[in-house]
Amino acid sequence: MPTDPLRLSGNGIDIELPVMEGSVGPKVVDIRKFYAETGMFTFDPGFTATASCESQITYIDGDLGELQYRGFPIEQLAEHSDFMEVCYILLFGELPNKAEKAKFLADIINHTMVHEQLHRFFSGFRRDAHPMAIMVGVVGALAAFYHDSTDINDPHQRMVASYRLIAKIPTIASMAYKYSVGQPFVYPDNSLSYAGNFLKMMFSVPTTPYIVSPTLERAMDLIFILHADHEQNASTSTVRLAGSSGANPFACIAAGIACLWGPAHGGANEACLNMLEEIATVDRIPEFVARAKDKADPFRLMGFGHRVYKNFDPRATVMRDTAHAVLEELGVDDPLFDVAMELEKIALEDPYFVEKKLYPNVDFYSGIILRAMGFPSSMFTVLFAVARTSGWVSQWKEMVEDPRQKIGRPRQLFTGTPKRDFVQMDDR
Ligand code: SDX
Repeated sequence: MPTDPLRLSGNGIDIELPVMEGSVGPKVVDIRKFYAETGMFTFDPGFTATASCESQITYIDGDLGELQYRGFPIEQLAEHSDFMEVCYILLFGELPNKAEKAKFLADIINHTMVHEQLHRFFSGFRRDAHPMAIMVGVVGALAAFYHDSTDINDPHQRMVASYRLIAKIPTIASMAYKYSVGQPFVYPDNSLSYAGNFLKMMFSVPTTPYIVSPTLERAMDLIFILHADHEQNASTSTVRLAGSSGANPFACIAAGIACLWGPAHGGANEACLNMLEEIATVDRIPEFVARAKDKADPFRLMGFGHRVYKNFDPRATVMRDTAHAVLEELGVDDPLFDVAMELEKIALEDPYFVEKKLYPNVDFYSGIILRAMGFPSSMFTVLFAVARTSGWVSQWKEMVEDPRQKIGRPRQLFTGTPKRDFVQMDDR
């Protein structure tokens, strides 16, 4: 919604820029005509102050530590909803009624199998391949199997591709794990919930019956909810940018998985557990906190800090409570949980972290829970990708359906060598 324009003058320019106001959150200055009218670019490496799009899916208030999917607070969704319902909300914007929810669930659950030939795709990887490397490769390859849902201009094909991705990503994730441990792939079981089916595909073996633990099923579903979407984070922006060129949805999600892998982003949950293992005991925490504060040391406290949250990450709070419940239910006494709790306490009292507003983020406790549930740390970011696929396809769908969307093409401030003539070898 337009409001009073912003007048900008100086440096030889004097222009009025439209200002737009959303339903909540900061206003935006519309600079789409800025270059045409001033001959200047704006400069914002890392897009820390740039709204890349208009969206109606997820809203974060970093100062208040609030996160809402389609207006519903994450705490309420964590308590009252389930991941399939959250996928529906992200895709369609409203809570489903009973019939809508049942149909959506059936549509997803009945597409969880992958093309049988895809099984052979895995044998090209080394057994010790990182499962995220496998995910990038196999998800990108889905475009080679599902030609009938790659035309992004066909609404039906867009929906089929979105459902296929949400349905098949847990199957591919569990196959990546099974391949790494030399166990046979487990076919999906449509009689189970999305989370229960994933746990069975991950941990069941042909020799013994597998009973899904309701506690682990609930914890898995909750972890999926907490990781489903998060505004225009690095991997979602990657999916949008890839999609803006018209690339097929499987290629776009594979690009998102690649970006999520970074330790500054989704890879932080694996890096955080590795850090906790390196710290190992509470008495070594001060040494690592000192390193995190030392500008000369590239070490950062994994699981701490956030580009947007300058208060508690609400997901970390829910995750910490879930960690307590899961460890208690499983009777697991994980010394790393004690290290994590003490590290959080020390960091939150340290002036460095207080003044820089560094709080635990979603990745700080997730590793503790996932390890207790039996996942190897190499699978932690894979689980993040399984959950975030629902957010990525929702954001991709919103971008493709936005009549204003164009191919993304940022500009630059060039500080390299201006034009010069080539110098022949004999003259150098
Ligand atoms: C995710 O964007 C999203 O929404 C992402 C995500 C999602 O759901 O998609 O929420 C998921 O990626 C969570 C973040 C996971 N990453 C980590 O836990 C890795 C550790 N955290 C940092 O690398 C860092 O905090 C970032 C990358 C998350 C944010 O980096 P920024 O934007 O540079 O952080 P900042 O500008 O707020 O930093 C302010 C200061 C800086 O110091 P100064 O330059 O002011 O002197 O705090 C320092 C930073 O160096 N700082 C840290 C720190 N994080 C920031 N110092 C020590 N340890 C840290 N973890």
